[in-house]
Amino acid sequence: MIKLSDRLQVIADEIKPGETVADIGTDHGLLPIFLYESGRSGGIILCDINRGPLDKARNNIALYLGEGALGDGGELRGLELRLGDGLKPLDSGEVDTVVIAGMGGILMTEILGENPVHSQSFSKLILQPRNGSHKLRWWLAHNGFRITAEHLVVERKYICEVMTVQPQRFAEPDDGVAVGLPQAAVPLPEEISDDTLDWEISPLLFDGPDPLLIPFIENKIRIEEKVVGFVSEGSEEGTEHQRIAEANRRLAALRAKLELARQRTGTM
Ligand SMILES: C[S@@+](CC[C@H](N)C(=O)[O-])C[C@H]1O[C@@H](n2cnc3c(N)ncnc32)[C@H](O)[C@@H]1O
Repeated sequence: MIKLSDRLQVIADEIKPGETVADIGTDHGLLPIFLYESGRSGGIILCDINRGPLDKARNNIALYLGEGALGDGGELRGLELRLGDGLKPLDSGEVDTVVIAGMGGILMTEILGENPVHSQSFSKLILQPRNGSHKLRWWLAHNGFRITAEHLVVERKYICEVMTVQPQRFAEPDDGVAVGLPQAAVPLPEEISDDTLDWEISPLLFDGPDPLLIPFIENKIRIEEKVVGFVSEGSEEGTEHQRIAEANRRLAALRAKLELARQRTGTM
């Protein structure tokens, strides 16, 4: 059986047995190969905007599963390769779950915002942004998507965020009202105000608390401390001062958050 990286395994674990899946930006195709080989999913569409990655995925399928695993383009069974941008290669509601992993958060908002009605036609999304996760969370909250679970997972020197998302029109009746589907997406603002850091450090990760919450916040503090040190060495005037002031504000907010997280997890 193919062995996934911890990051891809966390994504795979969010897929329930029997769900059909589309992997957008599949590249190597390893996640779909695992889902098929493990029997978790019997029908998976592998999409990519570039032909090279799709060829790579086809080679990996042949290597791990043999050509027989490729569907014949009829009813979705086995693995099917499709070239195209974002969700465009998919029919409305064609699969249960859409995975978009390993891309920037802003690109994900563009993919989902291209056609909101289409994006809302799938019952579940699993998103793993490489960066810009606070912008992605803001965009989801303002465009009728609810994050139902979040996980942190280490990949090399990074701590990655994995979000499981439900279009709100699929919400359980008890969860509240089903929203009317917007024809056009609410765009991202230039700046997102995040004094409490709730967009950046999701309450789902904080309240859990996720086992990696403390190192996740500590990493952010280290990055900000580097910015402060780097900028202070550089210049003493004008915009540089503003940058230091902003970085110091963020540092104070992050340190306060870390303190709260330590209290919550009982690690002082
Ligand atoms: C870094 S790889 C991620 C591979 C895999 N999803 C993972 O998480 O390991 C990003 C892939 O997304 C593809 N991609 C980028 N923009 C895309 C878009 N708009 N629609 C579909 N695929 C896209 C790229 O061609 C590339 O193969």
